[in-house]
Amino acid sequence: MPRTIDWVDDRIALLDQTALPDVRMLAVGSVDELIDAIQRLAVRGAPALGVAGAFGVALAARTAQGPELAATAKRLAAARPTAVNLAVGVRRALSVAPQGAAAVLAAACALRDEDVASCRAIGARGADLLGELCGPGPLRLHTHCNAGALACVEWGTALGVVRSLHEQRRVEFVVADETRPLLQGSRITAVELVDLGIPHRIVVDGAGPSIIARGLVDAVVVGADRIAANGDVVNKIGTYSLALAAARRGIPFLVAAPETTVDLATPDGGAVEIEERAAAEVLTVAGTRMAPVGSEAWNPAFDVTPADLVTAIVTDRRVWRP
Ligand code: MRU
Repeated sequence: MPRTIDWVDDRIALLDQTALPDVRMLAVGSVDELIDAIQRLAVRGAPALGVAGAFGVALAARTAQGPELAATAKRLAAARPTAVNLAVGVRRALSVAPQGAAAVLAAACALRDEDVASCRAIGARGADLLGELCGPGPLRLHTHCNAGALACVEWGTALGVVRSLHEQRRVEFVVADETRPLLQGSRITAVELVDLGIPHRIVVDGAGPSIIARGLVDAVVVGADRIAANGDVVNKIGTYSLALAAARRGIPFLVAAPETTVDLATPDGGAVEIEERAAAEVLTVAGTRMAPVGSEAWNPAFDVTPADLVTAIVTDRRVWRP
């Protein structure tokens, strides 16, 4: 599997996640193309969006400076509102713009490289913590959406924890929620798990809490799109019901994310803008309308898991028990 995102021949190289399980690469040469790719979810997942934002500023800095560059950066940062890493990546690259386009590109490349190291650290720390909480295993782990290599540059956050355990032969199987409406679980997480040779079962989202209640998994491990200062976790819609079920069953609910996903400027989950996506994503399946004409839909892409339901947040720097 090629890298999720990289800088190749003066363009952003993206593995087009709308095409998976087929592997197709996109070469993105302008900020408008990048915004389109972000909004279509050709590139997605909080850490990958952070790197995309920084590379986008690098593209823009080749021709724009000062207020013009700042306006383009603002537009890019707003392409998806919930995952804080997009704005973090944009800000970081923009902060060195006075030193010229080469400095901006260097900052973006550094962010890319840090993401790889950070995922490795999260994986190792999360695997150790699950050992403490659940014993040596092999463990039955439940995950939601995709917090794997394809949501980052490489390795992954929540799936990075799974991979670290798998390297130690401590994974029995993974339960992957399919993650309606865009199926990041069954299209993207499953591709990664097949690639890695990790046994797994895909379940419909509605089955997740009941699988936990029946004692069929030992722990839940998910990623995060934004973590508020009080430890509330914003993640793909459907995460909250897993956290409730895990608390009720008394199994660990772990959140794995880079420290850059912790947003101290956001006091709690209630202050986070939840992205509302197109109703058509819910009303149709693979382009075919399933709901009758006259039905409308709500399509919130994320939910908030209150801090008191979170056993621990594992970052590249620490284990935080909010
Ligand atoms: O809408 P997406 O696919 O960008 O959703 C974000 C996610 O990938 C998940 O919420 C993930 O768990 C957090 S990012 C590693």
